[in-house]
Amino acid sequence: MENKNINILAIESSCDETAAAVVRNGREVFSNVISTQIDIHKKYGGVVPEVASRKHIENIDTVIKDALDEANVGIEDIDAVAVTYGPGLVGALLVGINTAKALAYAWEKPLIGVNHIEGHISANYIEDKTLEPPYMCLVVSGGHTHLVYVESYNKYEVMGRTRDDAAGEAYDKIARCLNLGYPGGPKVDKLAKSGNKDAIHFPRVMLKDDTLDFSFSGLKSSVLNYVNRSKQKGEEIVFADVAASFQEAVVDVLVNKAIKAAKIKNCKQVALAGGVASNSRLREVLKNECDKNNIKFYRPSPILCTDNAAMIGSCAYFKFLNKEFVGYDLNADPNLDI
Ligand code: KG4
Ligand code: ZN
Repeated sequence: MENKNINILAIESSCDETAAAVVRNGREVFSNVISTQIDIHKKYGGVVPEVASRKHIENIDTVIKDALDEANVGIEDIDAVAVTYGPGLVGALLVGINTAKALAYAWEKPLIGVNHIEGHISANYIEDKTLEPPYMCLVVSGGHTHLVYVESYNKYEVMGRTRDDAAGEAYDKIARCLNLGYPGGPKVDKLAKSGNKDAIHFPRVMLKDDTLDFSFSGLKSSVLNYVNRSKQKGEEIVFADVAASFQEAVVDVLVNKAIKAAKIKNCKQVALAGGVASNSRLREVLKNECDKNNIKFYRPSPILCTDNAAMIGSCAYFKFLNKEFVGYDLNADPNLDI
């Protein structure tokens, strides 16, 4: 058993990406198929849950077939079926869960339920095969902003979290205000490159407080007020400067707290995870601060930052080793915590 390779078919459908992957031993990706619904939700300026569920139903069988074909593995080579069961949109999650249950039953394989946030963290094991706990992970996505101390592969301690908006949510809202479209994060990131980050001073909420929690709704209001006030006064608004100054305020707080948390735990490794982990400025500043503090910095490639099933397959492997299997009564848990 110890020497046997473990191949996991993983399924992810918590938001607007239908994804399936085959992952060996938690670190080797044989396939990672992602069918994104961005073009559909773009029209509405955000994800429409009912539409997302319907699209998952339409796509999931093909996505899974493609993942198996691309990996070139047969059913006999699969050791377990893993699926995200929360947090996320309930209807969207249920599509993945029910498909995973059906496959596990028909193929007589164990079923593994994975927490989406733990999945994001695990993307780092795929990117860097040498990374091992303990390390501090800053998880920043459209729905979550968590500072997580990863003590072992299956043991997490949340050191801080957002009290209101997630970092990605703030990016998306600012993008809407600047008419950049959905999803806003990558667009703000790009526009910010041509702006002056020191042009406008936006608040760094709770930066100096003792807490490792975050708050981004005040910053969001402050940017919206700035734009509205400037419009009323008939002043020219340099969108690139707004984007760069907003981004700097977000990055400042995120990086500061991540380093602070690492120091509290006397931890010499810091990792990034989640959609916002693709942000070029966040990667740059966190890397610099880690270097200054003699901390090793890890971050997944952009394709592993965004929602995908390979990260779910990685996380599931460590649960497989622990024999953490679930029954056919597995349900979606939209507010699942870590
Ligand atoms: O992890 P993810 O794909 O989905 C969730 O689990 O939420 O994260 C999506 C979020 C969106 O808010 C998107 O705008 C943001 O990640 N994002 C970015 C960048 N790329 C994606 N935010 C800032 N800069 C980026 N380059
Ligand atoms: Zn995600």
